[in-house]
Amino acid sequence: MALWGGRFTQAADQRFKQLNDSLRFDYRLAEQDIMSSVAWSKALVTVKVLTEAEQQRLEQALGVLMAEVQADPSAIVNSDAEDIHSWLEQKLIDKVGDLGKKLHTGRSRNDQVATDLKLWCKQQVSQLHHGIVHLQQVLVETAEAHQDSVMPGYTHLQRAQPVTFAHWCLAYVEMLARDASRLQDTLKRLDVSPLGSGALAGTAYPIDREQLAGWLGFASPTSNSLDSVSDRDHVLELLSNAAISMVHLSRFAEDLIFFNSGEAAFVELSDRVTSGSSLMPQKKNPDALELIRGKCGRVQGALTGMMMTLKGLPLAYNKDMQEDKEGLFDALDTWMDCLQMAALVLDGIEVKRLRCKEAAEQGYANATELADYLVAKGMPFREAHHIVGEAVMEAIRQGKALEALPLADLQKFSMLISDDVYPILALQSCLDKRAAKGGVAPQQVAAAIAATKQRLV
Ligand code: ARG
Repeated sequence: MALWGGRFTQAADQRFKQLNDSLRFDYRLAEQDIMSSVAWSKALVTVKVLTEAEQQRLEQALGVLMAEVQADPSAIVNSDAEDIHSWLEQKLIDKVGDLGKKLHTGRSRNDQVATDLKLWCKQQVSQLHHGIVHLQQVLVETAEAHQDSVMPGYTHLQRAQPVTFAHWCLAYVEMLARDASRLQDTLKRLDVSPLGSGALAGTAYPIDREQLAGWLGFASPTSNSLDSVSDRDHVLELLSNAAISMVHLSRFAEDLIFFNSGEAAFVELSDRVTSGSSLMPQKKNPDALELIRGKCGRVQGALTGMMMTLKGLPLAYNKDMQEDKEGLFDALDTWMDCLQMAALVLDGIEVKRLRCKEAAEQGYANATELADYLVAKGMPFREAHHIVGEAVMEAIRQGKALEALPLADLQKFSMLISDDVYPILALQSCLDKRAAKGGVAPQQVAAAIAATKQRLV
């Protein structure tokens, strides 16, 4: 039975009902709807709408429903109810009779859904935070094992300067740290309770909203009832958190897809996260990573979709806002799945150290070293840059690495160059030199690993 029967003489058209009903997705708010209903029943005692005994009967029935919901949340969707709020009200009436009909006094589905969704968001923030921290932990462990796995670092996808696989891992630890801190910021702003805002103008009962917010674990109640029922900033913020983090995960995936390619062959992915080709027997495809990269798209779509849904909506509640849930649920599920999948991919990864080192030695990744060497001997950097460019051109012509050019050849470019240049051009020296904070020097990477481990406990 619909909640608004009195004013209507005709039943809803089935096609309208199909479009209008939200139970098939908002059943996920069942636990939150029960929690907010228990708190509301307690508030109704304080304003003498319910007696203590009535409240206890309601709370007990809601407890039974909670157990049923937790045992099988998907059973809810078999009902014909419009949404989770009407489902719960009907279930309560089935259990306690007319008493169940009192619970909606002074409350609206508008403040109810706003409250439930915020409670759900708070729970998600904590799960997503764990997902991020877990991936960071796996990245740090991988970094620890690969402090001396040297590989080429790229800009413009051209070999630029040598780095280590550990340093690469730690770059993603930093991105994820920002993702986690964005979540914490979002949590601070969403931690205010809309319950007691009624349909839009506030509840007509003198309820202590501070106390009510406290019962639900919110930091405080919201300040304006119109805003309370029409605010979905937390949905936008969480979607935006998800969208940014998915961009990070997509870049992580793309890096590894390239490292795993036949051309780079720096890593080999585990059989557990790859698939074969139905036609080409030799293939082992990085599907897990491609899906992380691909799923980034739908999360960006959810954010844009919600922005457009809210744009131009008049205050206060409008049914458009029911569109907040599917995109949010899907985006946060996708984000969580991808965080877990990224950790699984790293878990079984094999870094081919020799091949990585070989690649780092090619591509003139030590050219900057030669320029810095000339600077140390008194040449202005711009001039050194030009001269080394010419030396690289000559090395390319001879098909050799810079350090393979005989001294006489190097001296054609500058007489400042002497025998002491060769140790400077060695791979290890390229790394060691970058010892300022945040650089790739081994002691900096070791310090970053230690600091991250401390941050993550
Ligand atoms: N299912 C609705 C939603 O998710 C609940 C709020 C309904 N409110 C209303 N005035 N029709 O937004």
